Amino acid sequence: MKLSIVILAAGLGKRMYSDIPKVLHKLAGKPLIRHVVETALLMEPQRLIIVHGHGGDQVQAALADIPSLQWVEQTALLGTGHAVTQALPLIEEDNHILVLYGDVPLIHIDTLRTFRQHAATHRLRLLTVTLDNPHGYGRIVRNAHGAVERIVEDKDANAEIKRIQEVNTGILMAPARYLNQWLASLRNDNAQGEYYLTDIIAMAADAGLTVDTLTPMHIEEVMGVNDRQQLAVLERYYQTQQVQHLMQIGVTMYDPARVDIRGTVQTGRDVTLDVNVILAGHVVLGHRVRIGAHTIIRDAQIADDVEILSHCVIEGVTVGKGCRIGPFARLRPETVLAEEVHIGNFVEIKKTTVANQSKINHLSYIGDSAVGSEVNIGAGTITCNYDGVNKHKTVIGDRVFIGSDTQLVAPVTVGAGATIGAGSTITKDTPPEVLTLSRVPQRSVSGWRRPLKKPKS
Ligand code: UD1
Ligand code: CA
Repeated sequence: MKLSIVILAAGLGKRMYSDIPKVLHKLAGKPLIRHVVETALLMEPQRLIIVHGHGGDQVQAALADIPSLQWVEQTALLGTGHAVTQALPLIEEDNHILVLYGDVPLIHIDTLRTFRQHAATHRLRLLTVTLDNPHGYGRIVRNAHGAVERIVEDKDANAEIKRIQEVNTGILMAPARYLNQWLASLRNDNAQGEYYLTDIIAMAADAGLTVDTLTPMHIEEVMGVNDRQQLAVLERYYQTQQVQHLMQIGVTMYDPARVDIRGTVQTGRDVTLDVNVILAGHVVLGHRVRIGAHTIIRDAQIADDVEILSHCVIEGVTVGKGCRIGPFARLRPETVLAEEVHIGNFVEIKKTTVANQSKINHLSYIGDSAVGSEVNIGAGTITCNYDGVNKHKTVIGDRVFIGSDTQLVAPVTVGAGATIGAGSTITKDTPPEVLTLSRVPQRSVSGWRRPLKKPKS
């Protein structure tokens, strides 16, 4: 069965009180509409069409990396039926059309697959849920035999219909051939003066088609985002789902309510996450990785037996086996640590490779550098990598010992096995295996007196 998917995303999102189009607000770090698009793509549709309105350029730009999307503008918001109509010219007659919503981000692929399973030429399928408080939703009206007859919008409903608790989620699937006919004959003589997509249900029933309904596994799948409270509710739901999954596959969390995943995580066995850990982008954690409290990791590969202590910010980094990082370390993009490297507190490392068993333990900035193995970099060492215009490289050989409070003015190379005396400013390459230092000789001045405060008169 050929499938095309239409995602409605023309709504204004007034209740967000935002300058950003509603569907670009983020859930787990990703725009709402991207959640929908990614799920839709898993269905491998013939066409994936987004009906956009206000803020369309921004929405298109935010999804520019997905070339297979097709965009249709709905210039006036005349209703959901009118919105779907805009996409019809792009869809072949033999397709089935699945309608999704850019602001209903968590629709699950399993639900959509079930939807597709029993799709048939003479069948219209609706996703419905039964709510304790159905207020505001279109109600599913069934006949005496339980067959769906029509949908009545809340604003058009009488008291009896308002008591119906089964509601329309908006998500439906129908053959394009019928949608072409039905949508062309929609009228807007209703309470809202809109062309309702929901009016096609009565048309399908009248034409003798089977209208069947199914229900999602979780109600959150069909919950829309209209304001920031609803956004927060879905964010928490999504986070709960993710941490539960991680625990199921063997991750220990001291408090799952205080771990957030904003992307994808791959984990080995016996990983432990302390409280207030945020993992973003794509993060790979090897076996027995331990992450301390209040640490943020984005786009990183962390190998087995790495310990990251509390309060670290790590982004765009590869960390080899057995490294120990933090507390209070910042590892910036393009940093690669080999095995058993120690990075201590108040150390910032950027675009630097550090070979096995080297230590940078206190108060340092190492940028644009290549650090050899078994190097010890003393407290307060700074690579002066930037001359105000260009970045320059620092190369530190194997087994180098750099004394505390050293500045390495790049471009500069410290030869293997060299020792740099504390407090040096190194501006030229230093030879291997010897001591280099640049230090004003110490002297003592006898007879010197500290100034005295004048006695108060
Ligand atoms: C719609 C359904 C209702 C259902 C409810 C579920 C209709 C007529 N009603 O009502 O049965 O219970 O959703 O939430 O379909 N949109 C456009 N262009 C438009 C109008 C809407 O793109 O001209 C988009 C909106 O951005 C939104 C979605 O369609 O994402 C739903 O529109 P909305 O006006 O919120 O419909 P409801 O009145 O909530
Ligand atoms: Ca709505």
